[in-house]
Parts: sequence; C-alpha cells; structure tokens
Amino acid sequence: MNQSSSSVNVVIVGALGRMGSQAVGAVLAADGLELVGAVARRQAGEDVALATGGQAPCGVEIQTNLASVLADRKPEVVIDLTRPDCVFANALAIIDAGARPVIGATGLDNAQLGQLAQAVQAKGTSGIYVPNFSIGAVLMMQFAAQASLYFDHVEITETHHNQKKDAPSGTAIRTAELMEQKRPQFATDNLADEVETLPGSRGGCRPSGIRIHSLRLPGAVAHQEVVFGDTGQLLTIRHDALDRSCFMPGVVHAARTIGSKRGFFVGLEHLL
Ligand SMILES: NC(=O)c1ccc[n+]([C@@H]2O[C@H](COP(=O)([O-])OP(=O)(O)OC[C@H]3O[C@@H](n4cnc5c(N)ncnc54)[C@H](OP(=O)(O)O)[C@@H]3O)[C@@H](O)[C@H]2O)c1
Repeated sequence: MNQSSSSVNVVIVGALGRMGSQAVGAVLAADGLELVGAVARRQAGEDVALATGGQAPCGVEIQTNLASVLADRKPEVVIDLTRPDCVFANALAIIDAGARPVIGATGLDNAQLGQLAQAVQAKGTSGIYVPNFSIGAVLMMQFAAQASLYFDHVEITETHHNQKKDAPSGTAIRTAELMEQKRPQFATDNLADEVETLPGSRGGCRPSGIRIHSLRLPGAVAHQEVVFGDTGQLLTIRHDALDRSCFMPGVVHAARTIGSKRGFFVGLEHLL
C-alpha cells in the first residue's frame, strides 16, 4: 500500500475482472493513490494484489459486500469496473456514502446518468462516468465530432471481445452524442427504399441518423472506426485499444483528480 496522509483513498469494485485486475496494479503503483479496499464476487479474504497476479501482497483483502466496504474503509474515490447490470446501483450506493465514483463499467443510459448527476449534486461532491479511459479514444471522439461539421453521412463500427455484455459500446454511444452536439441530424437519404434481407444488417440507427454496427470477436480488445462519406471521398477515424494497459493512465488520472471537482461529468476530457 502507498501510505501517505495526502494520498487519495481508493476502493476498486470488480477487482478480479480483466479491467479491475489491471486497475489494482495501476492504483498500487500510482503516487498519490492508496488502495484501501477491493470488492469482487469471489476469493473473499485473499490479498487482492496476489489474486490479480502481483508478486507481493498489498495488505488489502478482497471483500464481497460493497456497502460494508464503503462503511468500513470510508474511501474518497471508488473505481467501478463491474458490469452493466450492477453499475447503477453501485454508483448510487457510492454517492450515498459520500465517496466519489469513477465509473468505468459501461451500459448506463442517459436517464441513469441524470439521476447520478442529481445524487452527486445533492451531496455536493463529484463523480464521473468514463466510457473510455484511453487518451487515443478521447481524441478519436473529439476528431469525429469536429468532422461532423463538414460531413452529412457517417456510420460507426465498433469491435470488442466476445465477452462484452452491452452493445453498442459506451464509447460508440458517447462518440455519437458528441457528434450530435455538432450536427443534430445526419443524412438518412436512402432509408425509405432500403431492404434488409437479413434483419439487423444495417446496424442500429439513432434518431440523428447515425448508424452503429457492433462486432463481437475473440481476439479483439476495443476498436472503433467512424467513417464519414461524401462525394468521391471517405474519411475514416480509427482507434485501436490493443491492450487494456492503455486504459490505466486514465483510470489513475481520474482517481487522482475527481476530488478537486464538483459535479458529475461524462467523459475523461472533463479532467484533462
Ligand atoms: N471505460 C473504459 O475505458 C473501459 C474499457 C474496457 C472495458 N470497460 C468496461 O468495464 C467493465 C468491465 O470490463 P471487463 O472486461 O473487465 O469485464 P469482466 O472481465 O467481465 O469483469 C467484470 C468483473 O466485475 C465483477 N462483478 C460483476 N458484478 C459484480 C458485483 N455486483 N460486485 C462486484 N464485482 C462484480 C465480475 O465478477 P465475476 O467474475 O464473479 O462475474 C468480474 O470480475 C465493462 O462494463 C466494460 O464494458 C470500460
């Protein structure tokens, strides 16, 4: 454990998952952060550093009950890397306990994000939902939003590993939202005549006309292409997360900085 009176006390929920286990190592190695708790659904009582592949124990035991960890450890920041089915309830409990959620698990809808923002406001604290912690993906989203000013036609293809629970990805949804802030309506000119001989072939279509296609394949990590089209040209903006290590600087940065903010944020760009 990084023992320092000025360190931010951090709990990680979903600590044994693919993202969570990397986050354990990243938080343990980070200056200014102290891991004070780890929540998972199994291996209770085991040292979380050893359980996630570390060489030395860190003195933090895995616990299975988030509520009791919040009460006992009183973290300032809780990093949630669980799954869409529990992330909303977790976030409400974290905020209610006075801690600041850094939410990396995806799948929250706008109504839920609105409720979390209200809960944070009522507590006078802060929190953030980060659909993608990698700086490359943040830039990809910003570049796509900028290109939306100039292109009327666009489709998004996102590719993830085949264990991912939610579709489309949180990154694809966030990308579309940022693009829609620049151009509320995209062209849907051939919609009336289009025939899908295999239902779903054309992907999901947002009210703005942005289509999103989700590929789920073993071997993939997290990849996205935003493809703009116009007469005689295509513009492709692509990001590839090749290894989950690319998310960790963003996880650490969010945990370090969210305490200096007030309010609820969506997207890492608000902390950069
Ligand atoms: N924001 C980003 O940059 C980013 C990047 C990649 C992934 N993600 C998102 O992060 C989340 C985790 O991804 P992953 O690939 O690490 O998934 P994963 O390997 O399935 O890990 C999820 C972990 O959460 C645990 N869990 C589920 N419900 C729980 C609960 N109620 N309490 C405690 N732990 C619980 C699971 O436990 P069991 O093993 O017992 O089921 C599992 O260990 C997903 O929502 C994914 O979309 C975000």
